[in-house]
Amino acid sequence: METTDLKIPTHIAIIMDGNGRWAKQRHRPRTFGHTKGADVLEQILTDCDELGVKYLTVYAFSTENWARPYEEVKVIMDLFRKYLISSVEKCARNNVRARIIGDKSKLSPDIIDAINNLEEKTKNNTGITFQIAMNYGSRDEITRAVRMLAKAIEVGELHSDEIDESTIEHYLDTADCPDPDLLIRTSGEVRLSNFLMWQLAYTEFYFTDVLWPDFDKAELLKAIEKYSSRDRRYGKVSK
Ligand code: FPP
Repeated sequence: METTDLKIPTHIAIIMDGNGRWAKQRHRPRTFGHTKGADVLEQILTDCDELGVKYLTVYAFSTENWARPYEEVKVIMDLFRKYLISSVEKCARNNVRARIIGDKSKLSPDIIDAINNLEEKTKNNTGITFQIAMNYGSRDEITRAVRMLAKAIEVGELHSDEIDESTIEHYLDTADCPDPDLLIRTSGEVRLSNFLMWQLAYTEFYFTDVLWPDFDKAELLKAIEKYSSRDRRYGKVSK
């Protein structure tokens, strides 16, 4: 299929899985896989942008990932810190609007500063919106949303009868972002792992055995081709 014949999803979400196995196949530490994974992510962001995708959301670190060995968590946080700092200039150059979703309050203060700086410096960019889920879990996101909602009722800003789906969406980390059209999960695992459970209600899912560090533009196009060929006439399409 020609790229011009493809139906390009407005919003792609990705569970980047398989870094550890990719490194193990090469007799290297798991963290080697994460470093390569971060490079791949940078390229996929560029590819999505060039294809006309408007939103890319990636699962970088889950609320459950803190249970991993200390050294591994440290390397992911170091990568994340570097990524946030270097992204300021790259996002400016490429007109990318960056946003971090998840519970930021549990991250280290310097990482929170780097997030705030990146979000602030890129907030008026009009190109692709790049959302990184960091210390993210869907149940945690919904719990935080419910807490904020309850507070709004408590202080009299909101009445319980006024609550509808859009009220709930307003309190989610992804407020103002359309739901994903396509979810990609790499490495052969077929589950959601607490990722965007509210937002993926009507999304097309694509699973591939390819490990994240081996994922590239050709693999991305395969996922988009599959998405393009699926019949989405029935039910709701993304907002
Ligand atoms: C899953 O592979 C990957 C992660 C938990 C971390 C994802 C992180 C990156 C791609 C790099 C850092 C990201 C940024 C934004 C700088 P896994 O470790 O679960 O692999 P396995 O299933 O083979 O063990």
